Amino acid sequence: MATPSQPDPRPEEETVRYEIEDGVAWVYFNRPDKRNCMSPKLNRQMLRVIEDLEFREDVQVLVLTGEGVAWSAGMDLLEYFRMNEEKGIGAIRQSQREAYGWWERLRWYEKPTVAMVNGWCFGGGYGPLFACDLAFCAQSAQFGLSEINWAILPGGGASKVAAELLSFRKAMYHAMMGENLTGEQAAEWGLVNECLPDDKLRARVQEVCDSLKKKDTNALRATKWAIRRVREMTYDNAEDYLVRAQEALNDFGGKQSRKEATRQFLDEKSYKPGLGAFDKSKLD
Ligand code: ACO
Repeated sequence: MATPSQPDPRPEEETVRYEIEDGVAWVYFNRPDKRNCMSPKLNRQMLRVIEDLEFREDVQVLVLTGEGVAWSAGMDLLEYFRMNEEKGIGAIRQSQREAYGWWERLRWYEKPTVAMVNGWCFGGGYGPLFACDLAFCAQSAQFGLSEINWAILPGGGASKVAAELLSFRKAMYHAMMGENLTGEQAAEWGLVNECLPDDKLRARVQEVCDSLKKKDTNALRATKWAIRRVREMTYDNAEDYLVRAQEALNDFGGKQSRKEATRQFLDEKSYKPGLGAFDKSKLD
């Protein structure tokens, strides 16, 4: 006889761990023995961690990854679903707000964010996957909208993520069939930017982070928000929004950065914008 799963005794503050190395915050879902599924404790801790990291001077890029063999096996069927349903609607809403809250925070994060999907990624995991600006996965990773396999619909934004990132036919197939995608399929289908051999994943993510670190911080923030915002705008509204966003960027050092970048290209001839970023260390 199998032993029924028990609530995880891991203290709330240990459900997420992070390390900061040379401007990159590597944030880990840290419940490897539970395949990093998202419990209310983890959701609360994750919000605290990402908020603490957001305005730190020593963090320029945030990478979200998982400890062990999973990125995240989605929502915790015991602690998020069953135990809250037993407590009633108040507990259900509270735990939804905690989960959706940190995904939203991450969607509109001040710094660039990268999902490094090292293993299983299911259901509710699509929320933080989409919240990250870029995503890279290991060949051994698997992606699934497994909701249909246990008789629910892909909630918590998962249906929206599928509809946003996949073609209509692929989103339907993915949600209705409950079959997993391999890492390579996830890249072909557009769930992630690239799929890498397992032992090359971290190096590639590091390379991407190093490149992001060289870009103008304020322009990066304006750019990632612009790409998210314009998805839901008409062409005319997007054009107008982008004019205003650029003007707002000017208030955050945008004018000086552009002037210096232009000087380095036109006068100093020390770089070409078509081939890489200007040297921001020369800014006053
Ligand atoms: N919710 C609760 N517990 C989970 C979850 C989850 N989503 N995923 C894994 N666990 C627990 C298991 O119950 C088990 O706990 P126990 O040792 O205390 O009994 C432990 O994590 C290890 O899981 P195994 O199933 O033994 O690990 P295995 O490596 O064999 O399989 C796999 C991994 C495929 C990820 C499997 O655990 C699984 O199918 N998990 C559920 C995935 C899923 O459908 N998630 C929900 C998506 S829908 C949504 O998020 C709304």
